[in-house]
Amino acid sequence: MSIQSIQDLEGMTLAGKVVGETLNKMLTFAKPGMSTKTLDDFGYEILKSYGANPAPQKEYGFPGWNCISVNHEVAHGIPSNRVILQEGDLVNVDVSAEINGYYGDNGASFVLGRDTRQLTPLVNSSKEILYKAISKIRGGVKIAAIGALIENEAKKRGFTTIKNLVGHGIGMTLHDHPHEIPCFADRTNKYRFRKDTVIALETFISTKARMVRQASDGWTFKTPDGSFVAQHEHTLIVTDKDPVILTANNGV
Ligand code: CO
Ligand code: CO
Repeated sequence: MSIQSIQDLEGMTLAGKVVGETLNKMLTFAKPGMSTKTLDDFGYEILKSYGANPAPQKEYGFPGWNCISVNHEVAHGIPSNRVILQEGDLVNVDVSAEINGYYGDNGASFVLGRDTRQLTPLVNSSKEILYKAISKIRGGVKIAAIGALIENEAKKRGFTTIKNLVGHGIGMTLHDHPHEIPCFADRTNKYRFRKDTVIALETFISTKARMVRQASDGWTFKTPDGSFVAQHEHTLIVTDKDPVILTANNGV
């Protein structure tokens, strides 16, 4: 969406703050031995305390409140009593919700406890690249240029990017124009970022794979080859200077 009024600005600011706080608290709450369902329910209670509605279920009928993806799961992992978090797991929590008609979206990958698989460089790269990309976004900048930046920064660190998961515009729906903000130089994408537009910028930094596949549950995206992928996501307002990060309180 394009911010057109104080009401839009306040609505998007509150939505960003609520999903940011929820993600931050979920990251702290996650412990080895906990099921992803317990972590999901914990996040739901925070969202509910603000009167916020989890977006994945509201918009798409997702069977959970928040997407929690573990190890070779990259995105849209379904919280479950059967998935028990283990020391050294690569965990991604993605929190998106609607409040008063406005949406916020943010996500983070982290290594739970001791880093038994040496995944910290991947996670840190994803975070650094997210902030580097954000610092280059302005009204008028080509979306493909930011994709190229993300891909090049990943390459410099010995990583690849996932081509078929993307960031997106956001506003009074979870996914809004521009519908695709890829993590590579997509030459077919001719769009430019526009001032006052709200976007959810997402990194998908991978140890090897460039594509993910949807699992038979109809939701979860996994790497086909056992690669690990880290994602970090902020909701932000594009300006003619540095973007305003609406989910800056998420602790990423
Ligand atoms: Co998200
Ligand atoms: Co998103």
